[in-house]
Amino acid sequence: MSALGGNSNEKISPNFPKGFFWGSATASYQVEGGISNTDWAQASDEGRLPPCGKATDHYNRFESDFDIAKSIGHNAHRFSIEWARIEPQEGIFDEKEIEHYRNVIQALKTRGMEPFVTLWHFTLPIWFVEKGGFLNPDAPKLFARYCSFVTLRLGFEARFWMTINEPLVWASAGYLKGTWPPFKKTPTTFLKIFKVLALAHKQAYKAMKSNNPELQIGIAKHNIYFSSDWKPWNIAMEWAASWFWNRRFLNMIKEHQDFIGLNYYFYRKFGKSEQLPKSDMGWDIYPEGLYYCLVELGRYKKPLCITENGVADRRDVMRKSFIEDSVKNVQQAITVGLPVIGYFYWSLLDNYEWLFGFEERFGLVAVDYETFERTIRPSALAYKQIIEKNVL
Ligand code: FCB
Repeated sequence: MSALGGNSNEKISPNFPKGFFWGSATASYQVEGGISNTDWAQASDEGRLPPCGKATDHYNRFESDFDIAKSIGHNAHRFSIEWARIEPQEGIFDEKEIEHYRNVIQALKTRGMEPFVTLWHFTLPIWFVEKGGFLNPDAPKLFARYCSFVTLRLGFEARFWMTINEPLVWASAGYLKGTWPPFKKTPTTFLKIFKVLALAHKQAYKAMKSNNPELQIGIAKHNIYFSSDWKPWNIAMEWAASWFWNRRFLNMIKEHQDFIGLNYYFYRKFGKSEQLPKSDMGWDIYPEGLYYCLVELGRYKKPLCITENGVADRRDVMRKSFIEDSVKNVQQAITVGLPVIGYFYWSLLDNYEWLFGFEERFGLVAVDYETFERTIRPSALAYKQIIEKNVL
């Protein structure tokens, strides 16, 4: 493979930059538990989605969970704030919940972990959805008001903020495939939502920056590594897919981001593709794609952070090499000069996976859903070794 060619066996410079962020990611609805005023909880009550219940009870156990994260070497952690907790009714903000998340951030900081905060990770307050969600003309303003409120209260506690997690995944599942709330299959609406989310991000960005210009604000973007064989049609498809899925949204918010969060899970080849190992969920495992996705993002000339990358692996037989191979590709990206600042494995804990409930196991730490007991998986210790040496 060429010098720029992904995960090669060539010798690459061994160290990660000093201060590189190593950690894992979670999202409020998937781990916290005990919430009923979101669109997702409502759909579960109607029997359309698996129930979430207490999830991993992380809302009450975050301190001991962060003890575990620290014990396995993490120096950073990505988590999300639940909009429906902060603003349970339109315009009514719950200071107790702000204090909860202040404690979450403090708990990270006292353990030496840099907080990376996501403001919206898929689940929406019911009042917002009842107003039409992001189709309401006021939606960008309402979203920006929520983001601004949180950073007015907590903006001096954390440096790195993401407004939106995976705008295209959310919009396509909810408005094109119809598998997630609000279960619509309307291509034109999908395209419209896209623009609204970009606008919502921009308004939030401006409001948050005016609260505190020091904040580093971005989104977590789900990108796919698209490749093709040499057939002209496939090359054209590859280009179009990369432009539409990977770059279009980022182009729309180009002037309003301080770093880019990359969530990498998928590889798609146009043309005949090779057989690849698969995760428990049947997703192809292709760590080289992480390198190519980082290269594609290099054009934006912003710091890059892998805000999610993980594997569903109940038996923990693939995770160690998955992490090692992925990290090798991050290292390769750094070697060719890309400004990568961190890597967050998805996820710290086993958790609620949107359509599949608690079946899938992404965690570095296993969760027993009856006792809520946590057990560190061997792969977490392999990851710890990489972190401690800051080298592969
Ligand atoms: C990502 C989501 C995250 C989790 C992983 C497996 O697309 O952001 O919440 O479900 O997939």
